[in-house]
Amino acid sequence: MVEKPPSAPGRLPVVGHIPRLLRDPLGALSRWGQRPEGVCRLDVAGRTVCLVTSPEAIGQVLATDSDRYRKADLVRDRLGSLQGGSLVLLEGEQWRDRRETLQPAFTRQRVASAAPTVVERTTERVREWPDNSPIRLVAECRSLVLDVLARVLFGLEFDGEHTPVHRAAEDILARMDLQSVSTYLPESVPTPTNRRFRRAVTTLHEELDAVVEDAAARADGRTLSVADGEGERSLLEIMLGAGMEPATIRDELIALLFAGYDSTATALSCALALLGDSPGVQSAVRAELERVVGGRRPTPDDITGLPALDAVVKETLRLYPPQYLLFREPTADTRLDSYRIDAGTVVVPAPWVVHRDEQHWREPAAFRPARWLTGESALPGEHQPAQAAPEFAYIPYGVGSRHCLGAGMADLTLRLTVAVLLQHRQVSLLGSLSVGAGPTLSVDDSLELRTVRDSLG
Ligand code: HEM
Repeated sequence: MVEKPPSAPGRLPVVGHIPRLLRDPLGALSRWGQRPEGVCRLDVAGRTVCLVTSPEAIGQVLATDSDRYRKADLVRDRLGSLQGGSLVLLEGEQWRDRRETLQPAFTRQRVASAAPTVVERTTERVREWPDNSPIRLVAECRSLVLDVLARVLFGLEFDGEHTPVHRAAEDILARMDLQSVSTYLPESVPTPTNRRFRRAVTTLHEELDAVVEDAAARADGRTLSVADGEGERSLLEIMLGAGMEPATIRDELIALLFAGYDSTATALSCALALLGDSPGVQSAVRAELERVVGGRRPTPDDITGLPALDAVVKETLRLYPPQYLLFREPTADTRLDSYRIDAGTVVVPAPWVVHRDEQHWREPAAFRPARWLTGESALPGEHQPAQAAPEFAYIPYGVGSRHCLGAGMADLTLRLTVAVLLQHRQVSLLGSLSVGAGPTLSVDDSLELRTVRDSLG
């Protein structure tokens, strides 16, 4: 008889594994992930959760057997009234059609066309930073990334840190924090977090309904069809041209903003914190920038010639994968590795664990971008080609058919923003980087970065 996966240690009667998850979620996940089986069972608020931490089992869930799984109801419950009809949550034919519709907005060429906006906005922001005094790292990164993505995705301007959209974004994300009790309760239970969440959803709906209406009015008169030159059309025009309903377009915009904003802001905060804490790596990246780009504005073509910068971003996403857990559910009883997984089990592939597993990574907890480079480079530390890690041991953007639609956009945005920031400033971290289990990894809000103006830019 095929058995269920082994139970993770530390299960208590009635409350199961919840106390450990609430106390120290990331530490608990790492400890549970060390089991040799690579799959283990948790009991969380009456649900069975299967934590998946070996590359082979992760590949099975997300890639080879992906048609046996769907996005977990848990994710649907958390995002439901916010973005119910969006790509992130759709399944089957509906998902395939929507992905096909949106894909043209994320081609390499389309992504590259966003570069001047990213560079211009970052340059403006960094010029406002005080010289030689601390800035609030997380708030700055969140505000910069929201500004950039809102412009490149839908031509919206969210200037300043405290627009209604910023506030709504924060209230919505609060309901997805693994350490908040509201995360485990239905949205209808009137906790303060849930009430703020519902108000925030209304605000976002109002703001974005107006954006869609405006775009539809502008498009009026020009007949948009799928056959139009997709290279020139904005994301909104692509959706209008595909005949999507305004409310569906609005949901999709919200989904894209959330899928992109929080993860990219977290990655940028971590990259700057790590650079600010590693003077040797930072000097190597700055020297590379000086050699390749000098004082001009970086372009997408430059980015391919900056291996040290590339290695820093890859290593940041290894150590701090913003989407540190992924959530699936089998559509029927199924088999994973040699275990039986019952329908209704929440199956959780864990980038957080596999990215830090010493079976695949030497000194897994150390920030060593040189591990991504082969041959000579100016980066300090020993090189260990990434190919040494098995397939599915590095999945910051997920894998299989539901991998990140915005990976190209995120990759370019991260490299361009870090490049521009380091062209203008030397950065040093005040304090030390620590992360928590938010909807994406959450970086300590109080962290500060001292930035000193430089002549490069
Ligand atoms: C560093 C930044 C980012 C990271 C680490 C990241 C990570 C991921 C991951 C891991 C998934 C797969 C989720 C799963 O399998 O359950 C995903 C899906 C997705 N991401 Fe990203 N993402 C980032 C930025 C973006 C951006 C900028 C956008 C859009 C502008 C975006 C749009 C999406 C969408 C639409 C999906 C769902 C795709 C589908 O279900 O077909 N992401 N992302």
